[in-house]
Amino acid sequence: MKANIVLLPGDGIGVEVVAETRATLDAVAAQFGHSFSYSEHLIGGCAIDATGTALTQETLDACRAADAVLLGAVGGPKWDNPSASVRPEQGLLALRQGLGLYANLRPIRLFPELIQASPLKAERLADVDILVVRELTGGLYFGKPRLREEVNGRRRAVDTLEYTDEEIQRVVELAFRLAASRRRLVTSVDKANVLESSRLWRTVATEVAARHPEIRIEHQLVDSCAMRLITSAAAFDVIVTENMFGDILTDEAAVLAGSLGLCPSASLGDGTRGVYEPIHGSAPDIAGKGLANPIGTILSAAMLLRHSLRLDKEAAVLERAVAQAIAGGARTADLGGKLSTQGMGEAVRAKLAG
Ligand code: NAD
Ligand code: IPM
Ligand code: MN
Repeated sequence: MKANIVLLPGDGIGVEVVAETRATLDAVAAQFGHSFSYSEHLIGGCAIDATGTALTQETLDACRAADAVLLGAVGGPKWDNPSASVRPEQGLLALRQGLGLYANLRPIRLFPELIQASPLKAERLADVDILVVRELTGGLYFGKPRLREEVNGRRRAVDTLEYTDEEIQRVVELAFRLAASRRRLVTSVDKANVLESSRLWRTVATEVAARHPEIRIEHQLVDSCAMRLITSAAAFDVIVTENMFGDILTDEAAVLAGSLGLCPSASLGDGTRGVYEPIHGSAPDIAGKGLANPIGTILSAAMLLRHSLRLDKEAAVLERAVAQAIAGGARTADLGGKLSTQGMGEAVRAKLAG
């Protein structure tokens, strides 16, 4: 098949991991007789430097015209000034909103050979297989009013956590549909003991659950969920939650896998087009050194093949190649190894054909 893929490498290690993933997608295309064409566009800090804005209309239009988008990461110390009027992260948020990508799927899967890479005891990690469905275009990240002002010499800032029933319903509904082909348990995570928006979340989640009697629902407060992810992660199947809770819980859950650099994501809306990106950021501490682990981005490309291009077999072959590379001892520095970003990409590609 022919597919038109937009690449948004962004900033920092985003550039390195996307280059390695493109080479890997090319290897998949060659193996299966597909033709992927790529166009690369700016987002984040590099877009601010070139154009003054973090997401240009040109980039957004290219993404709208694409079959799928592969993104690296945005941000970095160069653009971190707290009083700057424009920030790289705004580009990513505008992209998610502009494409209507309200659900961010973040699978947390463990490779048996990497159990030792996690600081947790091995017995806590047995059978961990979690899919976090993070709401992506609502909540604290997008609520209005949002402001920072100075009145009578006092400084004040406001963010707003707002959800409508429809925003909650569509993402929880997706979580239930995904749970149907898994272990049929949805954990809806909120802070309903304190927040009004969470009480609406819980009410709507309960209504959705009533339409799916074959799937169990449990409600869990976000603070104790954070603890249970460490003490008994294997008890979770699908977790569905508010935008910021999902952001925080998934970096925590990445510790189970052994490195933030291993974890992929798919941001989806109602159509087949999606944005695929690792859950990590631009990692300024290691950027430009060839040290970044590209696996999170390569596994995001596998999700791209599956969800946007409907290439299930190719996705499975790529995921198997990653698993075999790791089983064969391929390790970047975050996993205690010596491979470069490129070395890890090559190790995956070497397993593809076999
Ligand atoms: P980060 O995820 O960039 O890095 C956290 C730690 O994990 C660092 O020590 C880093 O070296 C390590 N790490 C991350 N990815 C890795 C990989 N692939 N291989 C090996 N090690 C890896 O988080 P941060 O330092 O808090 O944020 C840095 C910048 O990235 C900020 O500007 C932030 O806004 C941005 N950010 C962007 C995204 C995104 O574009 N989706 C996500 C998170 C953070
Ligand atoms: C992520 C990141 C982003 C988020 C930032 C960079 C806007 O942390 O993709 O997890 O908070 O969504
Ligand atoms: Mn994050």
